[in-house]
Amino acid sequence: MTIAIGSDHAGYTLKERIKEFLLDKGYEVIDLGASSEESTHYPLFAREVALAVQEARAERGILVCGTGIGMSITANKFRGVRAALCLNEYMARMSRLHNDANVLCLGGRVLGEDLALSIVEVWLETPFEGGRHSRRVDLILEIEKENL
Ligand code: RB5
Repeated sequence: MTIAIGSDHAGYTLKERIKEFLLDKGYEVIDLGASSEESTHYPLFAREVALAVQEARAERGILVCGTGIGMSITANKFRGVRAALCLNEYMARMSRLHNDANVLCLGGRVLGEDLALSIVEVWLETPFEGGRHSRRVDLILEIEKENL
């Protein structure tokens, strides 16, 4: 599986740790920046990762900023992207089972490293449940079309 990752300055350290974790587990990683803790702007990186998922250059995306909020707001502007801000493993599991989330957003300033990596692991390993949830995800796609 190929995963596009991105962060701003506030998420940089955790993004680097996630990259190492993913590579160790054998995932392909496309790192779309940032490349340091120098102050920058989270929408620029959310855009790059969202486009990588939208254009199927990556199957999933992971975005990290200070809270994860700015990344999730921005990524969800892109059609076909379902970005989920997750604070624990339960949210990560449900975002996959019920929402078929394809982008995970994390807060580098609100999560410890071990918890963040555990969230990433659960999120990557949990499949979409389908069934009644497919109809609901389809409704999201319909709503996106209405808003072109
Ligand atoms: C940067 O200071 C901070 O605003 C950003 O990382 C993020 O938390 C925005 O949602």
